[in-house]
Amino acid sequence: MTNSSIKVAYLDLKAQYHSIKPEIDGAIARVLDSGQFVLGSEVAEFEREFAAYCGASHCIALNSGTSALHLALLAANVGPDDEVITVPFTFVASVAAITYTGARPVLVDIDPQSFTIDVPAIEAAITPRTKAILVVHLYGQAADMDPIMEIARRHGLVVIEDAAQAHGAKYKGRPVGSIGDMACFSFYPGKNLGAYGEGGAVTTSNPEYERSVRMLRDWGQDAKYHHVLRGFNYRMEAFQGAILRVKLRHLERWTEARRALAGKYNELLGDSGVERPKEMSWARHVYHVYTLRSGDRDGLRAALQEDGIQTGVHYPVPVHLQPAYADFGYERGAFPHSEAAAKQVLSIPLYPELSPAAVAEVAAAVNKAAARKVQTVVY
Ligand SMILES: Cc1ncc(COP(=O)(O)O)c(C=O)c1O
Repeated sequence: MTNSSIKVAYLDLKAQYHSIKPEIDGAIARVLDSGQFVLGSEVAEFEREFAAYCGASHCIALNSGTSALHLALLAANVGPDDEVITVPFTFVASVAAITYTGARPVLVDIDPQSFTIDVPAIEAAITPRTKAILVVHLYGQAADMDPIMEIARRHGLVVIEDAAQAHGAKYKGRPVGSIGDMACFSFYPGKNLGAYGEGGAVTTSNPEYERSVRMLRDWGQDAKYHHVLRGFNYRMEAFQGAILRVKLRHLERWTEARRALAGKYNELLGDSGVERPKEMSWARHVYHVYTLRSGDRDGLRAALQEDGIQTGVHYPVPVHLQPAYADFGYERGAFPHSEAAAKQVLSIPLYPELSPAAVAEVAAAVNKAAARKVQTVVY
């Protein structure tokens, strides 16, 4: 699609910036004036505010969500010879971070309704080497955390939430980021809470994990030039901390806008025959992405493209079928729900600044394409 043929963009980060421009520009000027560009008081304040938002005692701000996953796993003492259970239907970082530690990812299929880990399948994947369960709250919806925590406690496993797509999401009224032993967030620009560059964080209420992650992000130091752990340079930049503080103040409003737009799509697509996302009984879904499911995903995508509507596929190939991870030894067919989802999911535009008229336009295009498909089948 050329720029001029796009009628509804998948995402528009400029619209959000313009809606809060004076606050953002002020925050950037504050950092420039402070001369403090890495960590510093803006990042420390953001850590306090984001921990409070998540209902966790601590937040450690980092340079990406991937770094958050890496350090949470290291703080949980995951290393070579260990196994970590997670899902193949996720962004590659969830699995890659496990490999960074030398541990082996042990994959479990998803539940096709929620797109999150299939809880009844977890126990069969536990072995004496299992150290942790990395639970992905995909698309902005929490996994079914109570039974996961119960299984983990019974087997002495650490639970790490991958909340990269789920800022503000809730499970039975509790915010993600406060349920597992640690939680990992990404502030990549397109996320529900997005920086203007890379960013991430770990939240936890466990002081030992907090201490480890905090040291590991800054060269494993417990005092300047005194390295007690083999650490990394995973520090957050001050600009990102200052920007995220501004944006955090708007996040609840933005989340409510996302939920309202999702509700509108649900209503307008009710008769389309295309499957809509399901908000589970336990969830406050924050619709990082609004994902349809269709047996003719590629046809639907092409029809929407013809109508000038940008879409996304999250994700077209499950991690166990990616060439880079072929050595895990999983065959095609190993995770049928993940493999089917990868063929059928289609994300349509949804962000807080999207106009009701644009939602109506997208919905009309989906309904038109779906009706055409039904006719093709009938005749
Ligand atoms: C589920 C999931 N986990 C981890 C990450 C990694 O975050 P980042 O891109 O900030 O490293 C992402 C972000 O794309 C994600 O969607």
